[in-house]
Amino acid sequence: MSTLLQQLLLENPSETLWIADENSKPLLQSGFSFDGDLLSNRWDIARLAEGKVRRSFFNDFRLEEAERHYRRIVYPVSKEKAVVHHVVNECHQALGIGGELALLGGKQSGIKTYAAKVASCFDSEKNLQKHGNEYLSLNPLHSKPAPEKQLDEDNYPELRPLEKLGGLLSKPGLFGWNKIDTGSALLAGTFAEHRPADSSNVVDLGCGYGYLSTQLATLGDFHFTATDNNAAALIACRENFHQREVRGTVVPSDAGTELGDNIADWLICNPPFHQGFQVEGDLTSRFLRNAARLLKKSGSALFVVNEFIPLTRKAEPYFGGAKQLLREKGFCVYRLEGPQA
Ligand SMILES: C[S@@+](CC[C@H](N)C(=O)[O-])C[C@H]1O[C@@H](n2cnc3c(N)ncnc32)[C@H](O)[C@@H]1O
Repeated sequence: MSTLLQQLLLENPSETLWIADENSKPLLQSGFSFDGDLLSNRWDIARLAEGKVRRSFFNDFRLEEAERHYRRIVYPVSKEKAVVHHVVNECHQALGIGGELALLGGKQSGIKTYAAKVASCFDSEKNLQKHGNEYLSLNPLHSKPAPEKQLDEDNYPELRPLEKLGGLLSKPGLFGWNKIDTGSALLAGTFAEHRPADSSNVVDLGCGYGYLSTQLATLGDFHFTATDNNAAALIACRENFHQREVRGTVVPSDAGTELGDNIADWLICNPPFHQGFQVEGDLTSRFLRNAARLLKKSGSALFVVNEFIPLTRKAEPYFGGAKQLLREKGFCVYRLEGPQA
C-alpha cells in the first residue's frame, strides 16, 4: 500500500475522512490503527476497518451520514466517472471551508483529468504532484462551490429502469450496469433445464442488481438469499426484488462468509473475476468454499466463469463433483454437487 496514502492519513487523523477502496485491504491488516473516519461502499473493507478506525461507514458514498465537516478527505480515485464525480460533489459538503480534498491515483486512473475538474469546481489552481508511480492532487475549499460548478455525476444516487435489462433497475458503478453480462445470460439460460428437484431455498452469491434471481424467479416459487459486497448492488437488488415481487432477503456479505451453514438447496453464482490486491488468496476459491458451506448436503450449485478459469480443479477441495454444462462465448457453466463443507 502506498506510503503516500499512509502519510496523508497520519497528518491530522482526527479531522480526516478516508474514502477507502478495494486496494485498502493490505493497510487494514491487524496492528493498523487510524484515529479518523473511514467510508467505503464495500462491505469487506468497512467490516475490516471496524475497531481499527474511529468510525467505519458502509454506504453508497453518502458522506452526509458522517454528519461532520472534515479538514481533509482522502480519496483514491476510481475509473468510474459518475462515482468519482458524485464523491467530489458530496465532498464539498462534508469538508469545512478551509478543508481540502486529497485525490490519489496512478497514471492510468484518470487522476489528471479529475484534478483539472476538481480545480474548476473548487475555483482553485490545478494542483498535481508526482510521488513515485502515484499522483496527488490537493484541492483546498475556499468557499462553497456554486451549484452550476458541480460535476456531472449522471444522477448517480438514482436507480433507473433500463430497457436493455428488461426494465430492471440499475445504475453506474454496478457490475455490467447497463448491459446484461454474457456469462450471466448463459447461466440464466441453463436454469430451466438444470433446476434440481428440491430448489426452494436459493442463494444468489454476488447478486449485483439481482439479474440472476429475477430471471430464476420467473420459473417458479423460490425463496432467495441474495448477497453482495457492494452497497449500491444491495440497494438495486432490494428494489428489483420489491418491484418484481421476488420473495427473499438481500444482505451484505464478503463472498457469503457472514451467512449461516446449510441454508440453501441451490446456489447460483457468477463470481467476480479479480480484486485489487490478492491478500487473502484467490477470490474464486473463496466463493467456492463458501458455496459448499452454504449448501445443504443434497444441494447443488451452478457457476459461470471465464473459460480459462480451471473451475473443476478449483472446486475439487469443496465439492464431490463438477460437470461442465456448456462452453460458449468465452464462458463455461458448471454444475457442482456433493458439497464437502
Ligand atoms: C460478475 S458480477 C455478477 C453480478 C450478478 N450476479 C449478475 O449476474 O449480473 C460479481 C458480483 O460479485 C460482487 N462481489 C465482488 N466481490 C465480492 C465479495 N467479496 N463478496 C460478495 N460479493 C462480491 C460484485 O459486486 C458483483 O456484483
